[in-house]
Amino acid sequence: MAAHQVNQDRLWQSLLDMAKIGPGVAGGNRRLALTEEDRQGRDLFCAWAKAAGCAVTVDGMGNIFARRAGRKPAASPVLTGSHLDTQPTGGRFDGVYGVLAGLEVVRSLNDRKLETARPVEVVVWTNEEGSRFQPAMVGSGVFSGRFTLEEGYGQADADGVRLGDALEKIGYKGAAKAGPRPIHSYLEAHIEQGPILEAERKTIGIVSGIQGVKWFKARVTGMNSHAGTTPMEVRRDPLVGAARMVQAVDRITRATRPDCVGTVGEFKVGPGSINVINAEVRFSIDLRCPDGGVLRELEAKVRAACGEIAQEAGLSLQLDEIWYSEPTEFDAKVVQTIAQAAGQAGYPARRIVSGAGHDAKHLAEICPTGMIFIPCENGISHNEAENITPEQAGAGANVLLNSVLTLANEE
Ligand code: HGY
Ligand code: MN
Ligand code: MN
Repeated sequence: MAAHQVNQDRLWQSLLDMAKIGPGVAGGNRRLALTEEDRQGRDLFCAWAKAAGCAVTVDGMGNIFARRAGRKPAASPVLTGSHLDTQPTGGRFDGVYGVLAGLEVVRSLNDRKLETARPVEVVVWTNEEGSRFQPAMVGSGVFSGRFTLEEGYGQADADGVRLGDALEKIGYKGAAKAGPRPIHSYLEAHIEQGPILEAERKTIGIVSGIQGVKWFKARVTGMNSHAGTTPMEVRRDPLVGAARMVQAVDRITRATRPDCVGTVGEFKVGPGSINVINAEVRFSIDLRCPDGGVLRELEAKVRAACGEIAQEAGLSLQLDEIWYSEPTEFDAKVVQTIAQAAGQAGYPARRIVSGAGHDAKHLAEICPTGMIFIPCENGISHNEAENITPEQAGAGANVLLNSVLTLANEE
């Protein structure tokens, strides 16, 4: 059977139209989870989904499900989708691509009047990024049963706004139960957010799994005092100590294994006045590795190094783990379905482990799951310069369309 193709121009136009909502200052997007901009993006998606004949429901975590009927209404559905929330200086395609490629699959099935045995649902997950509310991927995490609804609602942003209240405020605290239900399979199309596919001139990444992630919050305190009157030899400066800890995270990660990564993304000082030795420094640590054992080893080394630095400098250190996402392996049959669809379309493809976290991690805990990657320019993401071509967008959506068709017609 010839591989079906999506309407690439329509998909590309939808991506550009969605990118008009929450524009960044440098050509990207800023649609932080559950902000007015996120609401507008959600509203636009819901309008498009209804126009494509989908029944749209929203669950208690604000996850949106746009359902295209199948011949067997009681059969467990095939889900496909991703997220619409972005980083503060995010790109136009991270997450959005997977949502709109899913919508394009529905639109293309409609064009061809193709009926599937199973219903197909396009999903928008709440708060995938974990930038405003932590941890990340909490909408799909409540859906999979990893987090309770209360845990989801209770997350607070830097201003103390609770996720549940923000959800209410944008009108997306839906009536549908937010928790596991029978799902046949889940597919997520996403940009790679790294340099491999582009460097190897591959059109499609057949994602075999996701690496493990650990997030920590650190608080360093010392002796808050006057910058002019405090002799150097008696100082206990938390900023100097925290700076050494940041160096240690980078040095230890590089020394552990080439496929480990370590990042300090947040770094806040208090009070942060020019002539004051600070009272405290708060910073985040993001450690990742495909191997769970090595990730724990990396954590132990970082904890030991930061503890030593604190002790030497007479500082106190609080280092709390706030999130652990185990390394994930995707379902072999779903991965094979994607590989076949890519092969049938004649696309150069390779298997790849995802460096970035995705909602597919939680779905893999409750149903057969797989992901389809497309390259992005210079592997740049979480950056307003994030970019793809219409052809790349179309190729990934073609593989998604044919993979969804195969899975949605499985008995
Ligand atoms: O952090 C991640 O890997 C994802 O982009 N939220
Ligand atoms: Mn993403
Ligand atoms: Mn992201």
